[in-house]
Amino acid sequence: MLLLLIHGFPHRGTLWDPVRAALAKQPSGRDWPVLAPDLRGFGDEPVAAAPSIDGYADDLVALLDARGVERAVVCGLSMGGYIALALWRRHPTRVRALVLADTRAGADDAAQRARRVELAARARAEGSEAVAEAQLTGAVGKTARAHHPERAESLCALMASVPVDGIVGALDAMRERPDATPLLAGISVPTLVLVGDEDVLTPPRESRALAAAIPGARLVEIAGAGHVSCWDRPDAFAAALSEFLATLPE
Ligand code: MLT
Repeated sequence: MLLLLIHGFPHRGTLWDPVRAALAKQPSGRDWPVLAPDLRGFGDEPVAAAPSIDGYADDLVALLDARGVERAVVCGLSMGGYIALALWRRHPTRVRALVLADTRAGADDAAQRARRVELAARARAEGSEAVAEAQLTGAVGKTARAHHPERAESLCALMASVPVDGIVGALDAMRERPDATPLLAGISVPTLVLVGDEDVLTPPRESRALAAAIPGARLVEIAGAGHVSCWDRPDAFAAALSEFLATLPE
């Protein structure tokens, strides 16, 4: 069974490198192949067509097709969670299980939509570095900021490496995404909801509500982690993921 890891905004597939390294050390005894691609526009390829959240989900299914993978455990962080939910809505037979990390099901409200427009304009005017700086405070938890400033620096560098077209495309895609809340009660695959207990962008109370709305979902709150919990506490993220994966029948 393959584990498909979907990064958030504005990240790249390398966001998952620390979790992948930590997963390899977990005692679960099961070796999960992992796919952690750059979403359309986030890698070095130019953006051929404006993306949407549904479009990112379809791209990922095309990737599974290309690899001959019928079903995957689909794990998304934040924007990656929006995409994971879209993948479930559009291609439920391809989803073995879901992991929704530091994310929400609801659509943007008017204030969030306005912030997306402002940030896209800033990306165009000032470049990716300015966006990375703007995102950093919300992304990293207070514990990592105080004790592991190098993690904030490396996340900032990762975010600053994302091309401006990819950033703007993702902001448009997130702004236009539909409300996924009506899907939740119908999710019929095993689901894990993860959240950093210092997440200020999608706070734990939202994740508790998300888990409560999905039949049988488990919830794990990762102590000392902020919004990008897989970067702040890759060891704890990998342990929660590995325990969840071990519950899935072969
Ligand atoms: C993310 O980390 O992917 C973003 O916080 C998502 C968003 O801006 O809604």
